[in-house]
Order: sequence, then C-alpha cells, then structure tokens
Amino acid sequence: MLFIITLIIFGFWAWNRRKRDSKEPPMLPGAVPLIGHAYHFIGDSAEVVLWKKLEDVSDKCSDAGGVIQAQIGPRTVYVVTDPEDCMTISNACLQKDGYYDFAKPWLGEGLVTGTLSIWRVHRKLLNPAFSQIVLDGFLDLLNRQARRLVKDLSAEVGKGPFDHWVYTRHNAIETICLTALGVDFSDKTILTAEYVQATEKILNVFVERFLKIWWHNNFLYDFSNLKKKQDELLKILHHMSITVLKKRKAEYLKNRNNVEETEKPTITGVKFKPFMDLLLELSIEKGAFDDREIREHIDTMIIGGHDTSAAVLMFSLLLIGSYPEVQEKIFDELREVFGDDDRDASKHDLSQLVYLEAVLKESMRIYPIVPVIARALDKDVKLRHCTLSAGRTCFMLVCGIHRYPCWGPDSAQFKPERWLDQANLPEHPGAFAAFSMGRRICIGKSYAYMSMKTTLAHVLRHYKVKGDHSKLTLKMDVMLKPVGGHHISIERRKKLVK
Ligand code: HEM
Repeated sequence: MLFIITLIIFGFWAWNRRKRDSKEPPMLPGAVPLIGHAYHFIGDSAEVVLWKKLEDVSDKCSDAGGVIQAQIGPRTVYVVTDPEDCMTISNACLQKDGYYDFAKPWLGEGLVTGTLSIWRVHRKLLNPAFSQIVLDGFLDLLNRQARRLVKDLSAEVGKGPFDHWVYTRHNAIETICLTALGVDFSDKTILTAEYVQATEKILNVFVERFLKIWWHNNFLYDFSNLKKKQDELLKILHHMSITVLKKRKAEYLKNRNNVEETEKPTITGVKFKPFMDLLLELSIEKGAFDDREIREHIDTMIIGGHDTSAAVLMFSLLLIGSYPEVQEKIFDELREVFGDDDRDASKHDLSQLVYLEAVLKESMRIYPIVPVIARALDKDVKLRHCTLSAGRTCFMLVCGIHRYPCWGPDSAQFKPERWLDQANLPEHPGAFAAFSMGRRICIGKSYAYMSMKTTLAHVLRHYKVKGDHSKLTLKMDVMLKPVGGHHISIERRKKLVK
C-alpha cells in the first residue's frame, strides 16, 4: 500500500515537474557546476567585463525569443528582454530582488530598496512631492543651475577634449541638494569632495560584492575588507544626510507657524517647496516617518536624483557632439523658441523643445544608464510563451529591451527622428524602459526631463560640442558609466547665432 501511495505521489510530482519544465524558458548554454555562468564576469577590469557580458547575454536572450534562464552560482535566474513580458513582470511582482539588499545599509527603506509593504505606504505619501505644481516651483533654480554649468564649462572652451562627466555630475548633485533638500552651500561642510567621491565609491563596492559570489552571503561578507570599506564610506554618506536632516528640521520647527518663510515664492510666482519639507511635514505633523526613514529617503533621492540625470546629460552631450546634423537641428529649435535671447527657459519653452526631448530619449535608448532591473518573483508569472516560477530572481535587461526587434533593423543607430512620429515607434509602451515601467516606475521622471531640458537649452545655446561616442569604453557601476577619460571639446557660439 505504502509503495502504491509513494508511486502515486512521485507520479504527480514528476508530472507536475514535467509540465513546469516544458513551460520553462531555455537555459543559456555554457553553465559550469557550482558557479553556473558567473565565471564570465571574472577578469582584470570586472566592471568592463560585466557590461560586455551583459550585452552578450542580452543579444542571446532576444535571439532566443526574449526570455531565458541563467545560473549565478547555485541560483537559477530568469533574464528577459521582451518588452511585453517585462511589463507583465513589472506589474505582477513589485518586490525588488535580494541583490538590492546590498544597498540597504545605505538606502534602507528608501523607495529604491524598500520592502514592498513599506514601499506601498511611502510611495503614496511621497508622490505629491513630484507633482507638476511642485516641479514648476523648481524652474527658477534649474535655470540658475544651468547658467552655473555654462559658466563652469567656460574654463574648457577651446582647450580640446575634457571629461565633461566631472561637470555634469557636480552640477547635478548641487541641483538635487538645492531642489530636493532645500540646502544651499553657504555651509561648506555639507557637500564636500569627500562626500561626492563616496557616492561613487560605494557603487563600486556593490558591484565588487555582486561579482564575488561568496560575498553574497552576509555572514562571510561581514569578515571581508570590502565590508570594512563599505562601513567607512557609509560613515561619510550618513554624516551628510544626518547633518542636513538636523539643520532642516531645526529650521522647520523654528518657522513652523510661518508659511511665508517655509514656502518661498519664486520669480515665476509658484511656491518653492523642496521634497525635504514634505518629509518633515509628514513626519512632524502626522508622525508618518521617523528620523531614520527620513534619512533613508534623503540618501535615496540624492543618489537617484543626481547620478542618473548627470549620466544621461553626459551621454547626450557626447552623442550630440558625435552627430553635427543633430546638433544643428537642436540649435535651430532653440533659435525658434528663444530667438537670439539668452533668457531663462519657461515651462512653455520646455514644452516647445520637442526635438531636444527626442534627442534625450534616443540617448537613453542607446545608453540606458540603468541597464538592469531585478525583481523577486513572489508568484508564478505567465508570460506570452512560458511561465516563470515563483521564488526566483528575474533580471529585466533594459539594454536588450531597447534593441529588441520591435525597434526595427536600425535599432543600433542613434536616430532622434524616430521619436517624432508615433508610427515609427514600437507599439508596446514597455519598449522604452529607461525609467523602468509599470507601478514602480521612476518617481523623478518628470523632474529629470525638466532639469535635463533646461540644462541643455542653456549649454547648447552657448557652446558647440564635439565628440566621438564610438571611442567610448563602458563599464557597469550599478549604473552604466564610461571608463574615465576625455570625451568632448567645446567652442563658444558667437552671439547665439550659427
Ligand atoms: C534621467 C534620469 C533618471 C533615470 C534614467 C532614472 C531611472 C530610474 C529607474 C530605471 C528606476 C527603477 C530602478 C529599479 O527598479 O531598479 C528608477 C527609480 C527611482 N528613481 Fe529614477 N531615474 C532618473 C531620475 C530620477 C530623479 C531626478 C529622481 C529624484 C529626484 C529619481 C528617483 C527615483 C526613485 C526614488 C526611484 C524608486 C522608485 C520606486 O521604486 O518607487 N530618479 N529611476
């Protein structure tokens, strides 16, 4: 009897397994025992190798129909590049994967790394901080920051190629501190060079940990030198956000009953209300956050809000410099909107800069600065041609989504014009995933377009840019970055005319 029951149970198990296996996507060839495909990432310059491998896997995945399996150590993971399937996964499974936990000691329950149950509550509370009315209040400041970048870049005029990342990054970190945190830099102890370097170095730490799979285990990692380095960097990073929090909280409490002081009207007449003020309001008036949570949201906004926009601006300027005909079209559009005037960009002006926006989108399509998004599958997910099993990790490769066959045979080419006619774009909205997709889409998307368009509207009215993006070597530093070096050169435009 026992034998028959065992046989029936085994039969069911085998049948179920067969059914599941037949619906599983194909496995990426080349896995070896114990480490799976992880050996591909080993090399002298691991971040460069990682990017190359990612592009390779992405091509293989698209060739195999857009969904495959791969192995990282003992873990089987899914890799997806099919835009429609990525949208299904993005909306079905909102929990970020365990790899994001590497960043939790820094960003805690901030929106990027937050646990799903906390994220649901906090995202709702924070959405109003990115409403159009709040963003409109930032426009004066964005114009001021863009002028500052124009001034800083003047040091490089006529001097040949230079690394413009240094400039876009410094400007973007200042901008996010001014708009999101509401701090100025009269206090030189806040935004120090040490802090700026630490934001870059900590991303290297996360990549190094990802590549050395034995350090995925928290217990082993705690004994590593890398963990010691991480702790030192965290001291610097947290010191900054805690200082800002203390300063702004004291100001808030002082001006609590004086709305005129806390919400300063701007030249455009729209109130300027930094993100930090909403956090403090929700915390002090409604008890929605404690100080640790505020600090985690601040850290998240600083990194999410500056490294990204700065990188897109850096890649865009390089592409604009590589395609003179694109640059001239941008300049024609700027002249149509501004004439010979060097005035600030208004909200209406920004809405007129349609070609400039197309250039930004195409730059992000070619160089997706967040090339991978990872989700934990908390349920089986039925896709178009297969079913993904609950409990596994799913990597959605934005670099593959952006070159998927639906983009046409010219998908590898930089062609901003494709964005000007809806008929030239893929039908599925998931085909453009630079800001992710679905319900966990980037909260700062509109802010990012507004700040990047304002910056380029100023910079490209003043300078002619030259570059060659084909010479670029890329690396994966959590985000997509160029290996350091000289990238563009600039010449001043005479009186804003051709
Ligand atoms: C061009 C600029 C930007 C790009 C390309 C970008 C891209 C992205 C992407 C791909 C994600 C999803 C990440 C993931 O799931 O792993 C994301 C999330 C996020 N971004 Fe952005 N971002 C940009 C600008 C900004 C700005 C300016 C801010 C804030 C001021 C911001 C704040 C965030 C936050 C808080 C999240 C987490 C959203 C959530 O899960 O609810 N980003 N961004």
